[in-house]
Amino acid sequence: MSFRHLTQFDDLSMEDWDALYQQASDMIDHPEAYTDVCHGKISCNLFYEPSTRTNFSFQTAMMRLGGSVFGFADPNSSSVAKGESLKDTVKMVSGYADVVVIRSPKEGAAKAASLYSDVPVINAGDGGHMHPTQTLTDLTTIMRLRGSLDNLCVGLCGDLKNGRTVHSLITALARFQNIKFYLISPRELAIPHYMIDYMNAHEIRHVEVTNLDAVMPQLDVLYMTRIQKERFTDMAAYERNRGVYILTAKKLEKAKEHLLIMHPLPRVNEIAVEVDDDPRAVYFQQARYGMFIRMSLLKTLVAQGRKTPEPLPVGTLPVCHNSRCITQTELYLPPLTELVNGVECCAYCGHEIYPMEQIADEDV
Ligand code: NCD
Repeated sequence: MSFRHLTQFDDLSMEDWDALYQQASDMIDHPEAYTDVCHGKISCNLFYEPSTRTNFSFQTAMMRLGGSVFGFADPNSSSVAKGESLKDTVKMVSGYADVVVIRSPKEGAAKAASLYSDVPVINAGDGGHMHPTQTLTDLTTIMRLRGSLDNLCVGLCGDLKNGRTVHSLITALARFQNIKFYLISPRELAIPHYMIDYMNAHEIRHVEVTNLDAVMPQLDVLYMTRIQKERFTDMAAYERNRGVYILTAKKLEKAKEHLLIMHPLPRVNEIAVEVDDDPRAVYFQQARYGMFIRMSLLKTLVAQGRKTPEPLPVGTLPVCHNSRCITQTELYLPPLTELVNGVECCAYCGHEIYPMEQIADEDV
């Protein structure tokens, strides 16, 4: 394996993905062979943001491997409520655990945690940025049910601005052959510029549309997402957009016979309950596959052992101007940037580093 932490899908090579998938597939077919492979290993789950599926599936994944789990699902029940920094929390728990799983409303939080952790860190969702283990779940689902990740026409529908699962999935599918995306969203919830730049740089075909019905007949995968209420600063904007796409049995009449209807869940109202009984609706199966690919990931990472990270310079100012970036609140973080296709970007949240005068308020 070429990776120590999983903060974004791009941390994985294609060989890493293949190995994780093959192992997960074997776990699905022969779960009894893995019940003890993480005996004595401990995972720490730091959930700074609400979660049901991701937290439960990480917990059950570790339990099914014979390991144990501790952590919090509500930061107010920990020293975080007393003002403890992310660095101190992570440094401390990485002394207790063999792997740290972190979910945070702050973009780049997992990357920041990985700089200070003595054990591997897994990003379980960082704000509106990335969600690589949901992506592993999504790829596993398509592979198991379709047999290939090449030659797909994928409709991504809903809140593409704030939906981190969509951003992660695009970066992953960009690695495969002959992928075309229909980006279906209201204009004010369109995919962020940095994702368009990413698709252009990787020569990924993509079309932005507002109408789901018009593209339905062409889709091999329809990936529905929730309007991300908690990421809105303007509730009127949320009200304008909630319920804008509702998938019904009637709308599916025009869809392909072998369409895969996926959703990271939780669903609010964007898929009518009547659709659940359509054989093309695979979202609950998708959630179950997520547990197996997380088992595969945990087994791989806990085997890596402890390693003290290199000392880093101490920062004083935020690296970037994204108001949701972890560097806005954890001011000691080193000011790391990286060049993405010649553009200087924040190494934590991926946003372009704009000169001060170009900064516009991007919040909805
Ligand atoms: C997603 C998330 O948290 O980003 N859910 C999940 O992890 N399965 C999607 C969402 O919250 O809408």
